Amino acid sequence: VTFTVEDHAGNRQSIEAPDDMGLSLMEILKASEYPVLATCGGMALCATCHIEVLEGKEGLGDASDVELDQLEALPEYYPTSRLACQIRISEELEGAVVKLRGEDN
Ligand code: FES
Repeated sequence: VTFTVEDHAGNRQSIEAPDDMGLSLMEILKASEYPVLATCGGMALCATCHIEVLEGKEGLGDASDVELDQLEALPEYYPTSRLACQIRISEELEGAVVKLRGEDN
């Protein structure tokens, strides 16, 4: 699956990721050397993997209550904010555009 990542400086890069390995978007971002801290290791507890889905939100499903609690606790979040660790890499991500929003990224 191919999607686009926008970094804090606004630079966009196309990323290709396997959609049959059960990986999370957070894991792919880290593997692509984006500075995502992911302190909690993908447990939806640290929110350092905060991203905003600029395009393609429809296919990703809804955030869980745990995820929403984390997002709402952030000083700043957006209507399309998500935690990258809670998004599975699947074909639904094809063509999506995500923007890094984690404060420490
Ligand atoms: Fe901690 Fe996603 S890695 S919330």
